[in-house]
Amino acid sequence: MADHKANSKATRHFLTLLDCSPTELNQIIARAIEMKQQQREIQRQEPFKNYVLGMVFEKASTRTRVSFEAGMAQLGGHAIFLSPRDTQLGRGEPIEDSARVLSSMVDIIMIRTFGHEIIERFAQYSSVPVINALTDSYHPCQLLADVQTFVEHRGSIQGKTVAWIGDGNNMCQSYINAARQFDFELRIATPKGFEPNSQLVSENKNRVSVLRNPADAAKNADLLVTDVWASMGQEDEQTQRLQHFQGYQINNELMSHANSDALFMHCLPAHRGEEVSAELMDAPDAVVWNEAENRLHAQKALMEFLLTE
Ligand code: CP
Ligand code: NVA
Repeated sequence: MADHKANSKATRHFLTLLDCSPTELNQIIARAIEMKQQQREIQRQEPFKNYVLGMVFEKASTRTRVSFEAGMAQLGGHAIFLSPRDTQLGRGEPIEDSARVLSSMVDIIMIRTFGHEIIERFAQYSSVPVINALTDSYHPCQLLADVQTFVEHRGSIQGKTVAWIGDGNNMCQSYINAARQFDFELRIATPKGFEPNSQLVSENKNRVSVLRNPADAAKNADLLVTDVWASMGQEDEQTQRLQHFQGYQINNELMSHANSDALFMHCLPAHRGEEVSAELMDAPDAVVWNEAENRLHAQKALMEFLLTE
């Protein structure tokens, strides 16, 4: 296997979906589907024996932590969980210094943090691939799993219509990048004041529109997606946001505006009775459990891609 540390110029990072070409992204999805099948057949190949993944979490996580840690173990390697509470990361050591030190010891790093510029600075000083495991602006790993899930259930997402209902947050903004890279139409319905970044929307206006009415966005859509109304770091705004987002719940009534075979996705954790009805979470159209599992397969394919590039 090539020594991916030997030529730092070639280091590939995955900070947003735009770090890979559409062809590469489709290859990663296809490989994730293949790796899922291999996992089902208990074919363990361990191509990354003794490789080490560093996992920096400045925010809470269930799915991301377990999928990366289990994924690296299944590939033959190890993962180290690093939280700011018990490392120097939480005591003000500069990002650039942490990046140089950590990347001199491990083979690949994933980071969940607040400002997107933190991960950009980290990647600039890292000699190994850096993966965005969620920032305030983007959550690209979740999009790999979402697209994989759509492909498994309905075939290619190219040319389809996706409706994003709710907050114009990190997931919504990753959907905008996904619309561009995977070539689908994205209709976003948000309350006033909760729109995604206007520059990002205008750069993708051939595929992306921002509406007010959830039913208009859902009309004839192939996939409806939402996320919590208050993201991590916005806990203080929870009560106020609950009021702003009234009428933006995805439920069976809203799903009735979409195509009859439309799917529902949610990156989880979900708040039943807020952004999604309890009833819809248990409906056959809701593929949220497959979507969550696919984090494992999609990220294994992503790590393989970054480590062998
Ligand atoms: N969807 C997602 O990223 O979940 P976690 O916050 O549990 O990692
Ligand atoms: N938008 C949510 C996603 C959680 C996976 C957050 O940032 O908290």
